Amino acid sequence: MSSLHEQIESLRTSFHQELKGASSVKDLDSLKTKYLGKKGSVQTLMQELRHCSSEERPVFGQVINDLKEEITSHCTHTLDRLQREELAHRIREESLDPTLPGKRGFLGRSHPIHQMMDKVLTILSGMGFSIQYGPDVDTEHYNFGGLNFAPDHPARDMQDTFHLNEGFLLRTHTSNVQVHAIESFTPPIRMVAPGRCFRNEDISARSHVFFHQVEGFYIDKGVSFADLLSTMESFLDQLFGIKVETRFRPSYFPFVEPGMEVDVRCTACKGSGCRLCKHSGWLEILGAGMIHPNVLKNGKIDPEVYSGYAWGMGIERLVILQTGIPDIRLFTQNDLRFLSQFS
Ligand code: DAH
Repeated sequence: MSSLHEQIESLRTSFHQELKGASSVKDLDSLKTKYLGKKGSVQTLMQELRHCSSEERPVFGQVINDLKEEITSHCTHTLDRLQREELAHRIREESLDPTLPGKRGFLGRSHPIHQMMDKVLTILSGMGFSIQYGPDVDTEHYNFGGLNFAPDHPARDMQDTFHLNEGFLLRTHTSNVQVHAIESFTPPIRMVAPGRCFRNEDISARSHVFFHQVEGFYIDKGVSFADLLSTMESFLDQLFGIKVETRFRPSYFPFVEPGMEVDVRCTACKGSGCRLCKHSGWLEILGAGMIHPNVLKNGKIDPEVYSGYAWGMGIERLVILQTGIPDIRLFTQNDLRFLSQFS
């Protein structure tokens, strides 16, 4: 058997040789276990001390301890180096650059039309109107006849209305919900009806084949024209967030009498005249009026006892007025560069 001294030196030599060959953290871990573990080579050497004389024992003990420290220190340094190398390699492999700024997640948001719709409905719900959804596909009766349109009224014309099979059509306005409500409920009725409408028009910057409206109506005993005016003023003040100047102009719709159109002072130029208000200083916002007695009668509501007001407005128009968007087609092109501007 070789002397203890030789064994120590051969262990040192073999350790350094193996250390040179360790190329991964895993290699180094097993090297450490092999030399420094509980059943490792250094520990085995320690056991050899039993066979030494009492003079030799402390001397060899010291030498083995020095070797143990030497091995430990080499292992620690090499492990540190290998760990750093492996991390650098992984970063290169994953092409991860931790110094780059983080990627921003893409957040969806609601469409500008829906944002405006939500705003309008929130205001009107707060004013006591309940929300009623009506059908997009409806009949002549609900879209026209029940609203006092004469049988030969030009709005029924094939050119404006998308007619479907068997007497059905795509509603041309949300006023159809008025007729459904009047036939289904008894007053007091206080409702708003949001939704999509369809007209057979050429698509241009100003008109589209489909668009959105909100219709509102209130039927009860003693509902007056003054109620309509104050409701419109209060609604528009809340919508624009300021006290807006309003103008009521007489107008004609078959389902109201009297009928009117409501304008507000141009939000862009404050009335001095600009492109948005076509230099009139006013923006047309909605149509409104007192519900025609024929409409009430059609729903078996006695116009001698009850009266009501109604109004309708286009949502696209409201967004255009608040943002100055020049072309209505932008709403339907799903262009994120456009849509992401509305947060
Ligand atoms: N339905 C009309 C349209 O689409 C808008 C309208 C005008 C609704 C006057 C009303 C109203 O309720 O009273 O142009």
